[in-house]
Amino acid sequence: MFSDKSAAAGTSSNQLSQLQEKLRLEGKTILNLAQSNPGACGLMPAGILETLTQPEVLQYTPDCRGALNSRQALAAWLGCSVDDLFLSASTSEAYSWLFKLLCNPGDQILVPHPGYPLFEHLAGLENATTRYYRMDYIHPAGWRIDLPELEKQVAEPDVKALVLIHPNNPTGSYIQADERNTIIELCERYKVALIVDEVFRLYKLDEATAPASFADTRSGLCFCLNGLSKLLCLPQLKLGWMQISGAPELTAEAKLRLELIADTYLSVGAAPMHALPLLLPRVADFIAGVRWRLQQNLAAAALIFGGDDSPFRLLRCEGGWTLLLAVPRYSSEEELALRLLEETGILVHPGYFFDCEQEGIFALSLIVPEEQFSLACRKMRQWFEAFPHNF
Ligand SMILES: Cc1ncc(COP(=O)(O)O)c(C=O)c1O
Repeated sequence: MFSDKSAAAGTSSNQLSQLQEKLRLEGKTILNLAQSNPGACGLMPAGILETLTQPEVLQYTPDCRGALNSRQALAAWLGCSVDDLFLSASTSEAYSWLFKLLCNPGDQILVPHPGYPLFEHLAGLENATTRYYRMDYIHPAGWRIDLPELEKQVAEPDVKALVLIHPNNPTGSYIQADERNTIIELCERYKVALIVDEVFRLYKLDEATAPASFADTRSGLCFCLNGLSKLLCLPQLKLGWMQISGAPELTAEAKLRLELIADTYLSVGAAPMHALPLLLPRVADFIAGVRWRLQQNLAAAALIFGGDDSPFRLLRCEGGWTLLLAVPRYSSEEELALRLLEETGILVHPGYFFDCEQEGIFALSLIVPEEQFSLACRKMRQWFEAFPHNF
Protein backbone atom coordinates (compact mmCIF):
# COMPACT_ATOMS: atom_id res chain seq x y z
CA MET A 1 0.00 0.00 0.00
CA PHE A 2 2.88 2.37 0.68
CA SER A 3 5.39 4.25 -1.41
CA ASP A 4 9.06 3.26 -1.35
CA LYS A 5 10.00 6.80 -0.39
CA SER A 6 8.10 6.62 2.90
CA ALA A 7 9.97 3.45 3.93
CA ALA A 8 12.54 5.34 6.02
CA ALA A 9 9.83 6.13 8.61
CA GLY A 10 10.69 4.88 12.10
CA THR A 11 14.40 4.48 11.40
CA SER A 12 15.49 7.65 13.20
CA SER A 13 15.60 6.11 16.68
CA ASN A 14 19.12 5.08 17.67
CA GLN A 15 20.78 3.65 20.76
CA LEU A 16 21.68 7.10 22.05
CA SER A 17 18.14 8.46 21.83
CA GLN A 18 16.81 5.25 23.39
CA LEU A 19 19.23 5.60 26.31
CA GLN A 20 18.29 9.27 26.67
CA GLU A 21 14.61 8.31 26.88
CA LYS A 22 15.34 5.57 29.43
CA LEU A 23 17.29 8.00 31.67
CA ARG A 24 14.54 10.59 31.31
CA LEU A 25 11.91 8.07 32.45
CA GLU A 26 14.13 7.19 35.41
CA GLY A 27 14.12 10.88 36.34
CA LYS A 28 17.89 11.35 35.75
CA THR A 29 19.20 14.83 34.97
CA ILE A 30 20.66 15.12 31.49
CA LEU A 31 23.20 17.80 30.62
CA ASN A 32 22.29 18.15 26.98
CA LEU A 33 25.28 19.35 24.97
CA ALA A 34 23.43 18.35 21.80
CA GLN A 35 20.55 20.76 22.41
CA SER A 36 19.86 22.65 19.18
CA ASN A 37 16.41 23.95 20.08
CA PRO A 38 17.05 27.64 20.84
CA GLY A 39 13.88 28.02 22.94
CA ALA A 40 15.08 25.21 25.22
CA CYS A 41 18.32 27.22 25.68
CA GLY A 42 16.40 30.35 26.68
CA LEU A 43 17.06 32.12 23.37
CA MET A 44 14.04 34.10 22.23
CA PRO A 45 13.48 37.78 21.43
CA ALA A 46 11.12 39.60 23.80
CA GLY A 47 7.64 40.76 22.76
CA ILE A 48 7.04 38.28 19.93
CA LEU A 49 3.37 37.68 20.74
CA GLU A 50 2.48 41.33 20.10
CA THR A 51 3.92 41.16 16.58
CA LEU A 52 1.60 38.27 15.66
CA THR A 53 -1.65 40.22 16.02
CA GLN A 54 -1.52 42.57 13.00
CA PRO A 55 -5.02 43.39 11.58
CA GLU A 56 -4.07 41.87 8.17
CA VAL A 57 -3.89 38.47 9.86
CA LEU A 58 -7.69 38.26 9.63
CA GLN A 59 -7.82 38.85 5.87
CA TYR A 60 -7.25 36.14 3.30
CA THR A 61 -5.42 37.70 0.36
CA PRO A 62 -3.47 34.81 -1.16
CA ASP A 63 -0.21 35.61 -2.94
CA CYS A 64 1.94 32.63 -3.94
CA ARG A 65 5.16 34.60 -3.35
CA GLY A 66 4.03 35.82 0.11
CA ALA A 67 2.30 39.08 1.16
CA LEU A 68 3.67 42.06 -0.74
CA ASN A 69 4.21 44.26 2.34
CA SER A 70 6.24 41.48 3.97
CA ARG A 71 8.35 40.93 0.85
CA GLN A 72 8.87 44.71 0.56
CA ALA A 73 10.21 44.83 4.12
CA LEU A 74 12.43 41.83 3.42
CA ALA A 75 13.68 43.30 0.13
CA ALA A 76 14.65 46.54 1.94
CA TRP A 77 16.42 44.54 4.67
CA LEU A 78 18.31 42.38 2.18
CA GLY A 79 18.92 45.17 -0.34
CA CYS A 80 17.33 43.30 -3.26
CA SER A 81 14.28 43.51 -5.52
CA VAL A 82 10.88 42.34 -4.23
CA ASP A 83 10.63 40.28 -7.39
CA ASP A 84 13.58 38.07 -6.31
CA LEU A 85 11.86 36.79 -3.17
CA PHE A 86 9.57 33.91 -2.28
CA LEU A 87 8.40 33.35 1.29
CA SER A 88 7.99 29.76 2.50
CA ALA A 89 7.04 28.10 5.79
CA SER A 90 10.66 27.14 6.48
CA THR A 91 14.02 26.58 4.87
CA SER A 92 13.21 22.88 4.73
CA GLU A 93 10.10 23.66 2.72
CA ALA A 94 12.10 25.90 0.39
CA TYR A 95 14.40 22.92 -0.28
CA SER A 96 11.42 20.74 -1.15
CA TRP A 97 10.10 23.39 -3.59
CA LEU A 98 13.51 23.64 -5.23
CA PHE A 99 13.85 19.88 -5.60
CA LYS A 100 10.37 19.86 -7.22
CA LEU A 101 11.50 22.68 -9.51
CA LEU A 102 14.79 21.10 -10.57
CA CYS A 103 14.58 17.30 -10.36
CA ASN A 104 12.96 14.52 -12.30
CA PRO A 105 12.74 11.12 -10.56
CA GLY A 106 16.25 9.74 -10.03
CA ASP A 107 18.05 13.05 -10.50
CA GLN A 108 20.84 13.83 -8.10
CA ILE A 109 21.57 16.64 -5.66
CA LEU A 110 25.09 17.20 -4.37
CA VAL A 111 25.28 17.82 -0.62
CA PRO A 112 28.29 18.23 1.70
CA HIS A 113 29.91 15.50 3.73
CA PRO A 114 30.04 16.00 6.72
CA GLY A 115 26.71 17.75 6.78
CA TYR A 116 23.28 18.28 8.17
CA PRO A 117 21.45 14.90 8.09
CA LEU A 118 18.08 15.97 6.65
CA PHE A 119 18.88 16.11 2.92
CA GLU A 120 18.45 12.44 2.18
CA HIS A 121 14.82 12.63 3.32
CA LEU A 122 14.13 16.04 1.77
CA ALA A 123 15.43 14.79 -1.58
CA GLY A 124 13.96 11.29 -1.29
CA LEU A 125 10.47 12.65 -0.70
CA GLU A 126 10.78 14.49 -4.04
CA ASN A 127 12.00 11.27 -5.76
CA ALA A 128 15.51 12.69 -6.07
CA THR A 129 18.69 11.23 -4.56
CA THR A 130 21.56 12.80 -2.69
CA ARG A 131 25.17 12.38 -3.61
CA TYR A 132 27.91 13.59 -1.30
CA TYR A 133 30.86 15.81 -2.02
CA ARG A 134 33.77 15.63 0.38
CA MET A 135 35.17 18.23 2.70
CA ASP A 136 38.65 17.63 4.13
CA TYR A 137 39.94 18.90 7.43
CA ILE A 138 43.52 20.04 7.94
CA HIS A 139 44.41 21.39 11.35
CA PRO A 140 44.49 24.30 12.13
CA ALA A 141 43.69 25.71 8.67
CA GLY A 142 40.19 24.24 8.66
CA TRP A 143 37.82 22.64 6.17
CA ARG A 144 38.15 22.72 2.39
CA ILE A 145 35.93 21.30 -0.31
CA ASP A 146 37.67 18.68 -2.48
CA LEU A 147 37.27 20.81 -5.64
CA PRO A 148 38.76 18.38 -8.24
CA GLU A 149 36.38 15.67 -6.99
CA LEU A 150 33.48 18.14 -6.93
CA GLU A 151 34.13 19.11 -10.54
CA LYS A 152 33.83 15.46 -11.62
CA GLN A 153 30.55 15.15 -9.74
CA VAL A 154 29.06 18.40 -11.08
CA ALA A 155 29.83 17.18 -14.61
CA GLU A 156 27.68 14.02 -14.18
CA PRO A 157 24.52 14.27 -16.34
CA ASP A 158 22.00 13.44 -13.58
CA VAL A 159 23.27 16.11 -11.18
CA LYS A 160 20.77 18.99 -11.05
CA ALA A 161 21.72 20.99 -7.99
CA LEU A 162 24.66 21.66 -5.69
CA VAL A 163 23.87 22.54 -2.08
CA LEU A 164 26.32 24.75 -0.21
CA ILE A 165 25.84 25.47 3.49
CA HIS A 166 27.47 28.81 4.26
CA PRO A 167 28.69 28.12 6.98
CA ASN A 168 28.23 24.40 7.01
CA ASN A 169 26.56 22.59 9.90
CA PRO A 170 28.32 20.92 11.79
CA THR A 171 31.79 21.91 10.48
CA GLY A 172 31.28 25.67 11.06
CA SER A 173 33.19 26.40 7.82
CA TYR A 174 32.28 29.11 5.31
CA ILE A 175 32.82 28.74 1.58
CA GLN A 176 36.19 30.42 0.92
CA ALA A 177 36.51 33.11 -1.78
CA ASP A 178 38.50 30.88 -4.20
CA GLU A 179 36.07 27.97 -3.69
CA ARG A 180 33.19 30.34 -4.33
CA ASN A 181 34.47 31.56 -7.69
CA THR A 182 35.30 28.04 -8.89
CA ILE A 183 31.92 26.65 -7.81
CA ILE A 184 29.90 29.44 -9.44
CA GLU A 185 31.84 28.93 -12.66
CA LEU A 186 31.41 25.12 -12.55
CA CYS A 187 27.67 25.36 -11.92
CA GLU A 188 27.23 27.74 -14.83
CA ARG A 189 29.32 25.55 -17.14
CA TYR A 190 27.47 22.32 -16.33
CA LYS A 191 24.01 23.92 -15.94
CA VAL A 192 23.68 22.87 -12.32
CA ALA A 193 21.62 25.09 -9.98
CA LEU A 194 23.29 26.40 -6.86
CA ILE A 195 21.33 26.27 -3.58
CA VAL A 196 23.07 28.18 -0.81
CA ASP A 197 21.81 27.70 2.73
CA GLU A 198 22.77 30.84 4.64
CA VAL A 199 20.79 30.24 7.84
CA PHE A 200 23.96 30.56 9.97
CA ARG A 201 25.80 33.13 7.82
CA LEU A 202 25.48 36.03 10.25
CA TYR A 203 26.78 33.91 13.14
CA LYS A 204 30.43 34.53 12.30
CA LEU A 205 32.42 33.78 15.43
CA ASP A 206 36.06 34.68 14.87
CA GLU A 207 35.47 38.13 13.33
CA ALA A 208 32.76 40.78 13.38
CA THR A 209 31.99 40.78 9.65
CA ALA A 210 30.20 37.85 8.09
CA PRO A 211 31.36 36.61 4.67
CA ALA A 212 29.23 37.86 1.77
CA SER A 213 26.01 36.19 0.71
CA PHE A 214 25.85 34.37 -2.63
CA ALA A 215 22.78 36.46 -3.49
CA ASP A 216 24.84 38.66 -5.81
CA THR A 217 25.62 35.73 -8.15
CA ARG A 218 25.06 37.00 -11.68
CA SER A 219 25.53 33.83 -13.76
CA GLY A 220 23.78 30.46 -13.79
CA LEU A 221 20.93 30.03 -11.33
CA CYS A 222 21.34 30.59 -7.61
CA PHE A 223 18.90 30.31 -4.68
CA CYS A 224 19.88 31.68 -1.25
CA LEU A 225 17.87 30.34 1.68
CA ASN A 226 17.30 31.88 5.09
CA GLY A 227 14.56 32.32 7.66
CA LEU A 228 13.48 33.19 11.18
CA SER A 229 14.38 29.74 12.51
CA LYS A 230 18.02 30.77 13.06
CA LEU A 231 17.98 34.56 12.49
CA LEU A 232 15.66 35.16 15.44
CA CYS A 233 15.77 31.68 17.00
CA LEU A 234 12.09 31.22 16.16
CA PRO A 235 11.69 27.87 14.35
CA GLN A 236 8.14 27.63 15.70
CA LEU A 237 7.04 30.72 13.74
CA LYS A 238 7.56 28.80 10.49
CA LEU A 239 8.81 31.52 8.18
CA GLY A 240 11.63 31.17 5.69
CA TRP A 241 12.48 32.64 2.30
CA MET A 242 14.53 32.23 -0.82
CA GLN A 243 16.29 34.91 -2.83
CA ILE A 244 16.80 34.13 -6.51
CA SER A 245 19.74 35.44 -8.51
CA GLY A 246 21.69 34.58 -11.67
CA ALA A 247 21.29 34.96 -15.41
CA PRO A 248 18.05 36.88 -16.21
CA GLU A 249 16.56 34.29 -18.59
CA LEU A 250 17.07 31.50 -16.02
CA THR A 251 15.79 33.44 -13.02
CA ALA A 252 12.67 34.51 -14.95
CA GLU A 253 11.84 30.90 -15.87
CA ALA A 254 12.57 29.67 -12.34
CA LYS A 255 10.27 32.30 -10.80
CA LEU A 256 7.41 31.43 -13.14
CA ARG A 257 7.67 27.73 -12.31
CA LEU A 258 8.08 28.39 -8.57
CA GLU A 259 4.87 30.42 -8.61
CA LEU A 260 2.98 27.30 -9.59
CA ILE A 261 4.66 25.20 -6.90
CA ALA A 262 4.13 27.78 -4.15
CA ASP A 263 0.57 28.48 -5.29
CA THR A 264 -0.31 24.79 -4.96
CA TYR A 265 0.34 24.91 -1.21
CA LEU A 266 0.10 28.58 -0.10
CA SER A 267 1.68 27.34 3.11
CA VAL A 268 2.89 30.51 4.83
CA GLY A 269 0.73 31.51 7.79
CA ALA A 270 -0.62 35.07 7.90
CA ALA A 271 0.57 35.74 11.46
CA PRO A 272 4.34 35.27 10.95
CA MET A 273 4.15 36.77 7.46
CA HIS A 274 2.65 40.04 8.68
CA ALA A 275 4.93 40.07 11.71
CA LEU A 276 8.00 40.04 9.46
CA PRO A 277 8.25 43.84 8.91
CA LEU A 278 8.27 44.27 12.72
CA LEU A 279 10.72 41.44 13.32
CA LEU A 280 13.47 42.25 10.80
CA PRO A 281 14.65 45.45 12.57
CA ARG A 282 15.38 43.31 15.65
CA VAL A 283 17.68 40.84 13.93
CA ALA A 284 20.99 42.74 14.28
CA ASP A 285 20.76 43.24 18.07
CA PHE A 286 19.39 39.77 18.65
CA ILE A 287 22.18 38.10 16.70
CA ALA A 288 24.77 40.15 18.58
CA GLY A 289 23.46 38.68 21.85
CA VAL A 290 23.46 35.10 20.56
CA ARG A 291 26.94 35.51 19.04
CA TRP A 292 28.21 36.62 22.43
CA ARG A 293 27.00 33.34 23.98
CA LEU A 294 28.49 31.29 21.14
CA GLN A 295 31.83 33.07 21.54
CA GLN A 296 31.83 32.64 25.32
CA ASN A 297 31.19 28.91 24.92
CA LEU A 298 33.85 28.57 22.24
CA ALA A 299 36.38 30.32 24.51
CA ALA A 300 35.37 28.12 27.48
CA ALA A 301 35.79 24.96 25.38
CA ALA A 302 39.24 26.15 24.23
CA LEU A 303 40.25 26.69 27.85
CA ILE A 304 38.84 23.41 29.17
CA PHE A 305 40.00 21.14 26.36
CA GLY A 306 43.11 23.09 25.35
CA GLY A 307 46.68 22.92 26.61
CA ASP A 308 49.82 21.46 25.05
CA ASP A 309 49.38 18.07 26.71
CA SER A 310 45.65 17.84 26.02
CA PRO A 311 44.43 14.66 24.29
CA PHE A 312 41.50 16.72 22.92
CA ARG A 313 41.45 18.98 19.90
CA LEU A 314 38.92 21.65 18.97
CA LEU A 315 38.37 21.63 15.23
CA ARG A 316 38.45 25.08 13.71
CA CYS A 317 35.00 26.66 13.95
CA GLU A 318 34.42 29.88 12.01
CA GLY A 319 30.67 30.24 12.45
CA GLY A 320 27.31 28.68 13.29
CA TRP A 321 26.04 26.93 16.38
CA THR A 322 28.13 23.74 16.51
CA LEU A 323 31.66 22.97 17.65
CA LEU A 324 33.38 19.73 16.65
CA LEU A 325 35.66 18.27 19.29
CA ALA A 326 38.14 15.46 18.60
CA VAL A 327 38.24 13.25 21.70
CA PRO A 328 40.66 10.49 22.79
CA ARG A 329 39.72 7.32 20.90
CA TYR A 330 39.68 4.92 23.84
CA SER A 331 36.74 3.18 22.23
CA SER A 332 34.35 3.63 19.30
CA GLU A 333 32.66 7.01 19.02
CA GLU A 334 29.27 5.41 19.63
CA GLU A 335 30.39 3.53 22.73
CA LEU A 336 32.05 6.66 24.10
CA ALA A 337 28.86 8.71 23.62
CA LEU A 338 26.69 5.98 25.20
CA ARG A 339 28.95 5.51 28.20
CA LEU A 340 29.38 9.25 28.67
CA LEU A 341 25.59 9.62 28.81
CA GLU A 342 25.06 6.62 31.09
CA GLU A 343 27.87 7.47 33.53
CA THR A 344 27.75 11.28 33.64
CA GLY A 345 24.36 12.29 32.19
CA ILE A 346 26.11 14.32 29.45
CA LEU A 347 24.56 13.99 26.01
CA VAL A 348 26.62 14.74 22.90
CA HIS A 349 26.05 13.76 19.28
CA PRO A 350 28.82 11.60 17.84
CA GLY A 351 30.33 12.76 14.54
CA TYR A 352 28.92 9.84 12.57
CA PHE A 353 25.44 11.39 12.97
CA PHE A 354 26.78 13.99 10.51
CA ASP A 355 28.86 11.53 8.47
CA CYS A 356 32.22 12.78 9.73
CA GLU A 357 34.88 10.52 8.20
CA GLN A 358 37.23 10.81 11.15
CA GLU A 359 36.41 8.64 14.20
CA GLY A 360 36.33 10.18 17.67
CA ILE A 361 34.42 13.39 16.97
CA PHE A 362 31.76 14.86 19.25
CA ALA A 363 29.47 17.69 18.12
CA LEU A 364 28.77 20.21 20.89
CA SER A 365 25.96 22.74 20.66
CA LEU A 366 27.28 26.25 21.35
CA ILE A 367 23.82 27.68 22.10
CA VAL A 368 23.61 25.90 25.47
CA PRO A 369 23.58 28.45 28.39
CA GLU A 370 27.17 29.34 29.34
CA GLU A 371 27.21 27.90 32.86
CA GLN A 372 25.72 24.60 31.76
CA PHE A 373 28.09 24.40 28.80
CA SER A 374 31.23 24.93 30.91
CA LEU A 375 30.04 22.53 33.61
CA ALA A 376 29.35 19.79 31.05
CA CYS A 377 32.71 20.34 29.31
CA ARG A 378 34.62 20.17 32.59
CA LYS A 379 32.79 16.99 33.62
CA MET A 380 33.44 15.50 30.22
CA ARG A 381 37.18 16.18 30.43
CA GLN A 382 37.33 14.62 33.93
CA TRP A 383 35.44 11.57 32.72
CA PHE A 384 37.82 11.08 29.81
CA GLU A 385 40.82 11.48 32.08
CA ALA A 386 39.51 8.68 34.31
CA PHE A 387 38.35 6.56 31.38
CA PRO A 388 41.39 4.31 30.78
CA HIS A 389 41.26 3.27 34.45
CA ASN A 390 37.50 2.63 34.34
CA PHE A 391 37.58 0.59 31.19
C1 LIG B 1 21.93 24.16 7.81
C2 LIG B 1 20.47 24.12 8.16
N1 LIG B 1 19.56 24.55 7.25
C3 LIG B 1 18.25 24.55 7.55
C4 LIG B 1 17.78 24.13 8.76
C5 LIG B 1 16.30 24.10 9.01
O1 LIG B 1 15.76 25.36 9.01
P1 LIG B 1 14.17 25.55 9.04
O2 LIG B 1 13.74 25.47 10.47
O3 LIG B 1 13.96 26.92 8.46
O4 LIG B 1 13.56 24.48 8.20
C6 LIG B 1 18.68 23.68 9.72
C7 LIG B 1 18.22 23.21 11.04
O5 LIG B 1 18.95 22.94 11.95
C8 LIG B 1 20.07 23.68 9.42
O6 LIG B 1 20.98 23.24 10.31
